[in-house]
Amino acid sequence: MSVSSPTVSGGPVVFDPFSDDYFQAPFETYRRMRDEAPLYYNETYDFWALTRYEDVSAAIKDYATFSSAKGVTLEIVKAAASGDTDSLAGKIIISLDPPEHERMRKLVNRVFTPRAVASLEQLVRDTIDRYASQLDPSSFDAVADFAALFPVEIITSMLGVPAADQQQLRLWLDESLERKPGQMSTSPEGIEAMMKSAAYYYELIQERRKKPQDDMISRLTEAEVTEDGEARRLDDIEITGFATMLGGAGAETVTKLVGNAVVVFADNPDQWQKLQDDRSKIPAAFEELLRYEGPSQYQIRTTTRDVTLHGKTIPADDPVMLINGSASRDERFFPDADRFDIDRERKVGYNLNFGYGIHSCLGAALARMEGRMALDTLLDLIPRYDIDRSGLQRVHMTNVLGWCNVPVRVP
Ligand code: HEM
Repeated sequence: MSVSSPTVSGGPVVFDPFSDDYFQAPFETYRRMRDEAPLYYNETYDFWALTRYEDVSAAIKDYATFSSAKGVTLEIVKAAASGDTDSLAGKIIISLDPPEHERMRKLVNRVFTPRAVASLEQLVRDTIDRYASQLDPSSFDAVADFAALFPVEIITSMLGVPAADQQQLRLWLDESLERKPGQMSTSPEGIEAMMKSAAYYYELIQERRKKPQDDMISRLTEAEVTEDGEARRLDDIEITGFATMLGGAGAETVTKLVGNAVVVFADNPDQWQKLQDDRSKIPAAFEELLRYEGPSQYQIRTTTRDVTLHGKTIPADDPVMLINGSASRDERFFPDADRFDIDRERKVGYNLNFGYGIHSCLGAALARMEGRMALDTLLDLIPRYDIDRSGLQRVHMTNVLGWCNVPVRVP
C-alpha cells in the first residue's frame, strides 16, 4: 500500500517511533502531525497514526472498530500479520477484545479494587522511604538510584516474587523494551531476557500451585473464568503472560513518570515551589505530569473495517497508532497546551494517558498512589535542586518515553 505523506514547506512531516527524534522528545513532531497530517501514514513501518485529541479519544473508545486483539505494539501486530499470532499477542488482558477481555478484566479487577489498593499504602510508603533514606541528598541519580528501584519492588511483591529476585526481573524487562534507533523488533538479547523472565514466572507458578501463599500468583492459580457457561481455571501460560505484563506495566511506567517529573520540575522551578508551598496540589501535579509528558505515549490498534478520516481511508486490518501523548498536547483541546501548569483547569473527567474505556489502566489507582508519595518524598529530599544536564540520558524503548539517568544536585 502506498499513500503519500503531505508535503509542506520544510518537507513532509516524518514520525518514526524508533528514531532518536522520538526518544529525545517527539512533541514538535506531534504538533506538525496534528496540523499537517492529522491522519498520518508511515511508509517505513506501514502504520497509520492519529494525533488530535478528538480523534484519539473517539478511537480509543471504539474498541469494535479499533481492536486490540492483534496486539498493542507494532512489533506484535506485524508478527500477527505474518501469521505468528499465538507466540506474541497470546491471551494477555491488554490484547483481548470483548467478550474475552471482559471475563479476564472481571477476574483481575478483584485484585485492584480501591479497597485492595488502599491496603497497599503501607507497603508503598515503606518501600519509597527505604530507597529515599539510602540516597545521598546532595547528589544522586533520580532514576537509577530511586525511581527505577521502588515500583518494580511493589508490583513484584504483590505478585509474590521473593525480594532477592525482584530487581533481576526489572533488568530483564529493560533489556526486552530497549530499541536501537531504527529497530522495531526486540533484539536477540531482549528476546533472551523475555524468555528468562517468562521461565522465572512459570517456575514460580508451579511452586505456588503446590504451596499457595498470600499473593497474587497464588490467587490467580485458584481463580476461575466462565467460558460458554463452563467454569475453568487459568492455565500456566495465561498466568505467566499476566504476571509478565503486570510486572512490566506496573514498573516501567511509574519509573518513567517520576524521572520525567524531576526533569520537568527542574525546567519549571516556579511549579516546584508552588508544590512546596501547598502539598495539597500533589494530586493535580501528578495529573499534569501525565498530560505533559506521560510515560505511555501511544497504543496500537488494528482496524476491523475501513475507516475514513480527514479525507483518507484506513483499510480494514491495518495498524493504527493512537498517540495519547500528542492528544494531551493538542492546543485545540488544552489551552496553552505546551505550558506545564499544575493549576491547569482539568475540564474533562478522564485522562487519556491512562488509556480510556475497556482497557483503561488497571493499575491507575496504584500508580497515582506511588507517584504522589514519590513526589511528596522528593519535596522533602530536594526542596531546591539542579540537574546535571550533561549526565541526562533518555531511554530508547518501545511505547514508553522517559529517562534512565537524571543526575540531581542540591546546591
Ligand atoms: C504512571 C503509570 C502508568 C501509566 C501511564 C499507565 C498507562 C496505561 C495505559 C495507557 C493503558 C492502556 C493500554 C491500552 O489501551 O492498550 C494501561 C493499561 C494497563 N495498565 Fe497501566 N499505566 C501505569 C501504571 C500501571 C500500574 C502500576 C499497573 C499495575 C499495577 C498497570 C497495569 C495495567 C494493566 C494490567 C493494563 C491493561 C488493562 C486492560 O487491558 O484491561 N499500569 N496502562
